[in-house]
Amino acid sequence: MNIYTLHVGQGQFVVITGKSDAVIIDTLLPATLKEGETHVIGALAKILAGKKLVGVIVSGFDDDHFCDIGVKTVMNKYRPDWVMYPRTYKPTKAASACFKTIEDLCESKNLMKLSIDLKDEKDPRFYNNISHDFAFEVFSPHKDDMTSSNNSSIVCKVKETATGATYLITGDTEIPRWNKIVRLFKSKLKSDVMAAPHHGSKNGITADVMKYVSPETVIISAGVDNAYKHPNVEAIHVYKAHAPKVYSTNIPKGQSIHTVADGQTVKSNVYEG
Ligand SMILES: [Fe+2]
Repeated sequence: MNIYTLHVGQGQFVVITGKSDAVIIDTLLPATLKEGETHVIGALAKILAGKKLVGVIVSGFDDDHFCDIGVKTVMNKYRPDWVMYPRTYKPTKAASACFKTIEDLCESKNLMKLSIDLKDEKDPRFYNNISHDFAFEVFSPHKDDMTSSNNSSIVCKVKETATGATYLITGDTEIPRWNKIVRLFKSKLKSDVMAAPHHGSKNGITADVMKYVSPETVIISAGVDNAYKHPNVEAIHVYKAHAPKVYSTNIPKGQSIHTVADGQTVKSNVYEG
């Protein structure tokens, strides 16, 4: 499994690829490219060459994850089969805009909608037939804990079926929701690679989360000199106490990160494009 965490500033754009399939997680396209940020369209042309983009996962509705231009560009150019997104939300302006775009795209592109709310017992937690290369296990969101857009984020483990390599999508999930997830799922959360929740915010991580996810590698997606001062120093301490390797897109001056997980080892390097 290849995991490309593209440096797009304060937000997220991740591409994962297997032998034949690819999946995009979040679609922030920077309005103007700052030094150190990756030209996403150019990177996609290289990363997706010879691959089929099967799906797009929108981990959350806020505009650092769901970017209208980004998702439309990806959908129009690469025509995936499905889009996965959180169902439960407060009707904020950002969430309503996101839903309208998804509805419009699903109608015009014949996309399959995978709208996730674990409170709805009809919603499966496992998606094993939406990719040749990857299986998906969902841990969040749940309507009862939808206390904010952050806590409506998708938390989902992507497993490469050929190798067993795993990557945990975490969105902007915060501690109150994590406490429930950990209590319910414990070691089911175990993953080789973890996206740092909420860009390395200290309100997105606990020692318990790290104990159960127990990743080899944590990857933070954050902007250089961002206003939130992500990643937080205390959060990095928590990551490093449980994970041998921690990388960030905003350290030292902006870098995209290419991670290869083969089920045995995890290796990360700067993605040069
Ligand atoms: Fe975010």
